[in-house]
Amino acid sequence: MADYDVIIIGAGPGGYVCAIRCAQLGLKTACVEGRETLGGTCLNVGCIPSKALLHASHQLHEAEHNFARMGLKGKSPSVDWKQMQAYKQEVIDTNTKGVEFLFKKNKIDWLKGWGSIPEAGKVKVGDEVHTARNIIIASGSEASALPGVDIDEKVVVTSTGALELGKIPKKMVVIGAGVIGLELGSVYARLGADVTVVEFLDAITPGMDGDVQKTFQRILKKQGLKFVMGAAVQKTEATKTKAKVHYKLRKDDSEHVLDADVVLLATGRKPYVDGLGLDALGVERSERGQIKVGKDWQTNVPGIYAIGDCIDGPMLAHKAEDEGMAAAEQVAGKHGHVNYGVIPGVIYTWPEVANVGETEEALKKANRAYKVGKFMFMGNGRAKANFAADGFVKIIADKETDRILGAHIIGPGAGDLIHEICVAMEFGASAEDLAMTCHAHPTYSEAVREAALACGSGAIHS
Ligand code: FAD
Ligand code: NAI
Repeated sequence: MADYDVIIIGAGPGGYVCAIRCAQLGLKTACVEGRETLGGTCLNVGCIPSKALLHASHQLHEAEHNFARMGLKGKSPSVDWKQMQAYKQEVIDTNTKGVEFLFKKNKIDWLKGWGSIPEAGKVKVGDEVHTARNIIIASGSEASALPGVDIDEKVVVTSTGALELGKIPKKMVVIGAGVIGLELGSVYARLGADVTVVEFLDAITPGMDGDVQKTFQRILKKQGLKFVMGAAVQKTEATKTKAKVHYKLRKDDSEHVLDADVVLLATGRKPYVDGLGLDALGVERSERGQIKVGKDWQTNVPGIYAIGDCIDGPMLAHKAEDEGMAAAEQVAGKHGHVNYGVIPGVIYTWPEVANVGETEEALKKANRAYKVGKFMFMGNGRAKANFAADGFVKIIADKETDRILGAHIIGPGAGDLIHEICVAMEFGASAEDLAMTCHAHPTYSEAVREAALACGSGAIHS
């Protein structure tokens, strides 16, 4: 008899959700975690702390830019950085403790320490070897390195260092105009830093809808972020308090240097599988280091599964969670399923940016006939009242069947609005189904309905 039905390695959103579902399905479950606290990258150094800083800095932005217009007079708040850090830590703590509570409630054993797999069916933590019928790897990811850029997490930092800087920098250079760069770049720009984003490509947030990319960059520029596009960073040179970023413009190979107090490297993340012993076990991995899995999330080694950031697909907490639930169902002999066509992505800047499904660019490439319904937030009463009318909702539907294929939103509450479109897509709805659904007035969600109307007979308020 094995000690456990399932041992999960890693207690991020993939691992901890998987552990809870395994326990709910009646499996004897343990979860190995080497960090001091549960919750993984997301709760400790990712989604949650970054959203706390985005929230706090957005409040400051509102006070500085919009309060007086609404008749709220008085001195703008000043920033107490130590207190903002304490607030961020409090948010982290309540969340990680929440996961610990759920482990206890569901009778999941937390095996504290770093785990390895000496052979299928065994997990070693410290000096102890535990046996399990199934092992699920949910070891997550880490920041990718860039040659010539040495990270000290003080002056040249990854997102982890950027979340806990000793002080707000006067000048910050962000390498990479992706999700991390723009979210954390926004935080420090709102807090008063002079932020320059250096991006290798000619557009920000690669892979996103082209209209959104342009609007998003225009809005961020208006908020004070500067951009150097088409630039290949060669190296950084850092002292204890300052750094220089050397880059070459791709169009003419000209060389340039930027000075900074802090440099944030945000050029992507890669799977973290160090110390698990995968090579000795013969677990297959892709060229990018992702653990290869089949449709049931099982690797080529029977009884060993993998989920979340350490396998292929978008590196998102909710994608990891969905895989965690589905893999648990598989291990329990049920039929876990993830619809990879309907995984939303959200950037939590102001305004928020959200997307799901196909882009126009991808449909054009695939030669598929589609139609677009677009509605500007300028025509939405609630958005105008809240000084949040810059942006739009764009719905893409099949030209013949009207079935919704994707949606792209930049505007207030985009991260919440996207979900009615996700649900519609899950049900195979047409744009007309959305357009025929009564939406309360005055809400931002009316913009979604108007975009759906624009796919057919036309929006009312444009
Ligand atoms: P992780 O959360 O990385 O967890 C893996 C855990 O496994 C870690 O705690 C690690 O310590 C542990 N571990 C690894 N190896 C071992 C071992 N051998 N033994 C024991 N323990 C081990 N995603 C979103 O969807 N929304 C966001 O807003 C968002 N914001 C982000 C902001 C930042 C700054 C960053 C860096 C990421 C953000 N992400 C966001 C991405 C999100 O954090 C990840 O997609 C998510 O955490 C992946 O979950 P996971 O369970 O696969 O791995
Ligand atoms: P990313 O993949 O989003 O963006 C990286 C950017 O860096 C790209 O624009 C890329 O073109 C650029 N780049 C790559 N090499 C470069 C170079 N040498 N010089 C200049 N630019 C270069 O990666 P990021 O922002 O590091 O985020 C990592 C992961 O974390 C993402 O996959 C994302 O899904 C996840 N995440 C999700 C969040 C959310 O859902 N809101 C928030 C933060 C992170």
